Amino acid sequence: MNRQYILIQTPTLLLVLAFFQISFAQGQTVKNIDGPYHNGMVVCATPSASKVGLEILKKGGNAVDAVVAVQFALAVTYPEAGNIGGGGFMVYRNARGESNTLDFREKAPAAASANMYLDSAGNVIPDMSLATHQASGVPGSVDGMAEAHHKYGKLKWAELVQPAIDLAHNGFAISKKLAGSLNWGSTQFKKLNPGKTYLLKDTVWKEGDLLVQEDLAKTLTLIRDKGRDGFYAGKVADEIADEMKNGKGLISKTDLLNYHSIWRKAITGNYKGFKIITMPPPSSGGIALLQLLHSVESYPLHRWGYNRDSTVQLIVEAERRVYADRSKYLGDPDFYKVPVDSLLKPAYIEGRMKSFNWNAATPSSSIQPGSFVGYESDQTTHYSIIDSEGNAVSITTTLNGSFGSKIFVGGAGFLLNNEMDDFSAKPGVPNMFGLVGGKANSIQPGKRMLSSMTPTIIEKNGKLFMVVGTPGGSTIITSVFQTILNVIEFDQDMQQAVTSKRFHHQWLPDQVNIEKDAFDSATMEKLQQKGYKIITGGVGGRVDAILITKDGYQGGADPRGDDSKMGY
Ligand code: GLY
Repeated sequence: MNRQYILIQTPTLLLVLAFFQISFAQGQTVKNIDGPYHNGMVVCATPSASKVGLEILKKGGNAVDAVVAVQFALAVTYPEAGNIGGGGFMVYRNARGESNTLDFREKAPAAASANMYLDSAGNVIPDMSLATHQASGVPGSVDGMAEAHHKYGKLKWAELVQPAIDLAHNGFAISKKLAGSLNWGSTQFKKLNPGKTYLLKDTVWKEGDLLVQEDLAKTLTLIRDKGRDGFYAGKVADEIADEMKNGKGLISKTDLLNYHSIWRKAITGNYKGFKIITMPPPSSGGIALLQLLHSVESYPLHRWGYNRDSTVQLIVEAERRVYADRSKYLGDPDFYKVPVDSLLKPAYIEGRMKSFNWNAATPSSSIQPGSFVGYESDQTTHYSIIDSEGNAVSITTTLNGSFGSKIFVGGAGFLLNNEMDDFSAKPGVPNMFGLVGGKANSIQPGKRMLSSMTPTIIEKNGKLFMVVGTPGGSTIITSVFQTILNVIEFDQDMQQAVTSKRFHHQWLPDQVNIEKDAFDSATMEKLQQKGYKIITGGVGGRVDAILITKDGYQGGADPRGDDSKMGY
């Protein structure tokens, strides 16, 4: 496996037929109707999981009930990223305008240590944090779902897990994209899982093939019947511990019992009167998003227009500065004092933008993380849900790489994450996403690795306005940022805003990654003349979002994947 910068799939054609779209994803004909809707909406990575969520809403479940059902359905129908062996973040806003966030990010096992991925010469051992049993953090997803349901759920837990069991037990017809992913992963599945046959087939996978996951169905049945204990104790915990023992992994039964997700106060900010409610650390996403929005707020983006040269230049320079800060100051707040207030001070952000020069690209080598007086010092998936009362959830969950570590828990039939790669294995050495870090994000037992996941909810005049988020590793933050600007500055509707071409800069490496044809030739030329190195590829994400318009809920499902929007 290659430790290079993430490559995200090229866009596919979006077929929009007046008010509705027919897609044949997941091997079945699914109406992907544009709405608008008034009672509820689910936008997520697979039509089968959207359908599961929609049914829960129609039964009287609330947005959190639908979240639980969708999370487990994605673990079956989107094995690249949907998971029970990973973790994530949830941003919640209820109909009364109260918000909360849940951190169910994975944690480093107790036996983890700062230099665990270094050889005797102090060099990072290639792929050790990506494709070994030691690549996995203690999973948080099942605890997160149990916790979210306990606090906000309305329907019975078992009713929410059952649809995923049915999908795993009865099987479902796979989409062309999933067939491609399974074929892509098969060599590694065989190599890393001797004696196991999960997600393998004697011949190549084809669109429409039935994928049955019997062991996963059994694991989900235990989760249905015992809740959190069905995963963190008993048979499944034994299976995880055995798997770790066989592969020299670090996760112990005590790590599993000790895992708990955490409710954290949302961080909030303002952009031109819109209130942004987003994820605090250990995600870097929320802080970076607020910094980015403030960096560009005083400029006439609306007048310049979508992806024009001035717009792109300003956004790239903001991204460059914000990602430099990310490398130094962001980490798990339970282990490292993240200077949230300093990073979000308007004067600080404006000061950072002062070195920006319209005539030439600022070299990243001349930008360092900011300093504060007095301060001591692909694969993820996102879904957005709104229910009939107006409760909203924005949730991003991940195994990190596509299919995580590609290691299955024997007997339990699920994939383990390779989230440990999101730590900084060694200061200045880039991870899978090309991101660098230091002390703030060093490995410590029980610590959560820094994330870029940016589930976000936006209010306008005190009312729910948008629910947005995406997968995409380091590009998550810039994709969410640009999708928000597409709506607020460039008057795009939700689907357009999601479909629009995106670009990305992350300080290091010093390059602008763009989707194919994101810029016209004149824009390209002007930027290149100013010294911007532009690379096609390495950006994309799969933004799944909902906009609340005067006519009702309007969805944006990313055409780059099998993503689907359903409402009623
Ligand atoms: N695993 C990607 C992220 O959390 O940013």
